[in-house]
Amino acid sequence: MLQIGDGAEILSVLFALALAGTRNAVLSAVLIAALYALLVLSRFPQVPASRSEQVLRGRKKVLSGGISVIAHRGGGHDAPENTIAAIREASANGATGVELDLEFTADGIPVLMHDETVDRTTNGSGLLKQLRFADLSKLDAAARHRLREKFHGEKIPTLQEAVEECISLQLTIYFDVKGHPDEAAAVLKGLYKTHPVLYNTSIVCSFESTVIYKMRQADPEVVTALTHRPWSISRLGDGTPRSSSPWKHHWSQALDVLQDWAIHHLLWRVCGVSAILVQKSFISPDYVQFWAKRGVEVVGWTINTAVEKQYYQDLLKINYITDSLKEDCEPHY
Ligand SMILES: *[C@@H]1O[C@H](CO)[C@@H](O)[C@H](O)[C@H]1NC(C)=O
Ligand SMILES: *[C@@H]1O[C@H](CO)[C@@H](O)[C@H](O)[C@H]1NC(C)=O
Repeated sequence: MLQIGDGAEILSVLFALALAGTRNAVLSAVLIAALYALLVLSRFPQVPASRSEQVLRGRKKVLSGGISVIAHRGGGHDAPENTIAAIREASANGATGVELDLEFTADGIPVLMHDETVDRTTNGSGLLKQLRFADLSKLDAAARHRLREKFHGEKIPTLQEAVEECISLQLTIYFDVKGHPDEAAAVLKGLYKTHPVLYNTSIVCSFESTVIYKMRQADPEVVTALTHRPWSISRLGDGTPRSSSPWKHHWSQALDVLQDWAIHHLLWRVCGVSAILVQKSFISPDYVQFWAKRGVEVVGWTINTAVEKQYYQDLLKINYITDSLKEDCEPHY
């Protein structure tokens, strides 16, 4: 099988094509044909619908409508995010599954952590990649949570501990992989091998198409999803521009347009994803339909108010990711 590597490379080839196209029509036609052949040869087919449906529907249908309700970072409003306590709380409150963030310590241990530093969630400080697992295990993962008294002393779990807890509670797992495509694919491949039930009960998700591509390469049986927030290259989650320089801002907006196009027309097919996890502002019935025609399910995030939840359950009828199984709460990005 040919290897393309990642979305960035595909995009640069497309760029080159676009430039070539303005000068020489024949050359550009040949290049487009070559690119097309490359894509067809190097893409991964979607896993059979019967299995992706099994994963996306989940085993627990406690909440209404047959859709899955997934606790974001384990349900960061109800318990300290990305902890065993959060997983148990989510299960007790009727979640179908949990979304968990995979990261690595300085000594290469896969753990659950969302940020690059431990400052926001624990009583420690510093970059995760500079802390050893032995250092992490001394920290209180509940230290900054609104319910810190109740969950005092909760630890940062290893990926393995978290997965075993989810399996025993029959929760579906959405692995959110931030980066480290090679390491993540190797670790997850090992986990699927040790716990084959994960093929039916978990999905690997990432903003980075490279992560998904590497995962399918390591094990094409794994169900995968791309995560997408339009305008994420130029703007932060709350809408403020990432760069104060107007020139840089316009340039990153152009990249946003290109990325959005690539995800909707190219990358989903190359990676063979079964779902797309999309920021809620961009989801409509038509949008869900666009993906349904391609055999891809939309999952919305982060759905926190009662009105939104009802809209997803009764109208859109698609899975959603939420910070709380219990109450309305402020959105996290
Ligand atoms: C964080 O809290 C834990 C548990 O209370 C404690 O054992 C540890 O010493 C604290 N670490 C720091 C850096 O404050
Ligand atoms: C996955 O689901 C299929 C279909 O329901 C079943 O035949 C298979 O045994 C399951 N695999 C595991 C490891 O649970």
